[in-house]
Amino acid sequence: MESRLQDQVIVITGAGGGIGRALSVALAKEGARIALCGGNNEDNLNETATSVRKAGGEVFVLPGDLRDDGFLFSCMDRIAQDFGNPDVLINNAGIALSTPFEDTTPEQLDRIYSINVRAPFILCQKALPFLRLSGNAAIINISSVVGHKGYPLQAAYAASKHALLGFSKSLANEVYKENIRVHTICPGGVFTDMVKIARPDLKPDGMILPEEIAEIAVFLLKFRGSAVIDEISVHREGKEPFQ
Ligand SMILES: NC(=O)c1ccc[n+]([C@@H]2O[C@H](COP(=O)([O-])OP(=O)(O)OC[C@H]3O[C@@H](n4cnc5c(N)ncnc54)[C@H](OP(=O)(O)O)[C@@H]3O)[C@@H](O)[C@H]2O)c1
Repeated sequence: MESRLQDQVIVITGAGGGIGRALSVALAKEGARIALCGGNNEDNLNETATSVRKAGGEVFVLPGDLRDDGFLFSCMDRIAQDFGNPDVLINNAGIALSTPFEDTTPEQLDRIYSINVRAPFILCQKALPFLRLSGNAAIINISSVVGHKGYPLQAAYAASKHALLGFSKSLANEVYKENIRVHTICPGGVFTDMVKIARPDLKPDGMILPEEIAEIAVFLLKFRGSAVIDEISVHREGKEPFQ
């Protein structure tokens, strides 16, 4: 049977990174057409593109900085024009910061907000006119366990991920009548470059794998029953929720 995701255009930000690459490959295996949206490291994006092609998928690469308004405000239109009408947007790009509260500078706060909150907010706004044309419209925002909890040294990151979760809840309630699903995934530690840098003390065997987050995204997008899933918290087996 043909997958529900066959030929769907799925826009993924931060697709050069650990979770973004796993999402891109897993969704390509379902027959989706993948637009890699944004990223400053073109080598990483090209590596993801190669992996998507190897998985049998069609891919469109649009490098750019999500802090650059020229890029941010035009990228959805460019994808629609050059690759196809987006059916799904996955706001995955993000940065972390590990700094004592009192040492966090206004510049660091602005930077983390611009990438973790402002960019996904604007991309959702820009995506909605296209999603309204789709029969399978969805947004997945990747927040974090830190969208619920606060850990030491992570005040700016926690604030940004709470904000992302917060606007996602409002958006879900605004657009559900238009049959646009808005899901937020809140993972605990996932074994990627981000966590290797932020928490070098953690070992991979205590962490979630990026491919496991991708499997959850595939499920969310394929399962479109009358029971709607808004928010998913993901933690490692044997660990408490929100650890
Ligand atoms: N790893 C974890 O433990 C964990 C847990 C919970 C939630 N998350 C969330 O999951 C998402 C993916 O994280 P990850 O672990 O896969 O991290 P990652 O490997 O560091 O990937 C992050 C991606 O975001 C992109 N990005 C950062 N700033 C950008 C900018 N200004 N413009 C465009 N792209 C930008 C990076 O691309 P460039 O470097 O090329 O710019 C990179 O591809 C993030 O939102 C993160 O907060 C991660």
